[in-house]
Amino acid sequence: MLSEETVQEIRAALRRYPRPRSAVLDALRAIQRQFGYCPPEALTEAAEILEIDANALQMLVTFYDLLYDHPVGAHILMPCKNIACYLRGADEIIAYLSRKLGIAPGQTTPDGTFTLQPMECLAACDLAPVMIADGEYYGPLTPERIDAILAELAARPPYRGEPVIETRPGTAVNGGGAGNGGGDGHDL
Ligand code: FES
Repeated sequence: MLSEETVQEIRAALRRYPRPRSAVLDALRAIQRQFGYCPPEALTEAAEILEIDANALQMLVTFYDLLYDHPVGAHILMPCKNIACYLRGADEIIAYLSRKLGIAPGQTTPDGTFTLQPMECLAACDLAPVMIADGEYYGPLTPERIDAILAELAARPPYRGEPVIETRPGTAVNGGGAGNGGGDGHDL
């Protein structure tokens, strides 16, 4: 079930760390990149390569918000529900997304295009209310922007990259750009 590329990624992770257990998150991310989630059969195969108990992998998948043990949408929408975004209308934004997609938070649209997964602080409070989708930040959100964002995402192929990027484009860490209050740099 695992592709040759995924197997090689897991073996590379094994070589990177002194102990097999240290390679498990890299292995799970590689599995998720292949399938969009972590199927049990894939975990069993990975556990054999890592020479660890498959149950340990399963437990990690259920522990982390960004690892999935069941199929999810081609595009995962992660609006922030924490305090700075809440104060700027995050609950209305999440309710709008729910109404527009016809699903409750935590659910996937019947056609498999979108999963709505509200998250805690996304470390982009200056963009409040903000969400991450396909590894990119969008904010400040309005219903009109959401309409445009959903249309653009729906036209893209399924996203198989990392759910959350480590540094946001336009922050000082990356050398400037949108800056505080300047928005996320998207045209949408
Ligand atoms: S509270 Fe929403 S990004 Fe920080």
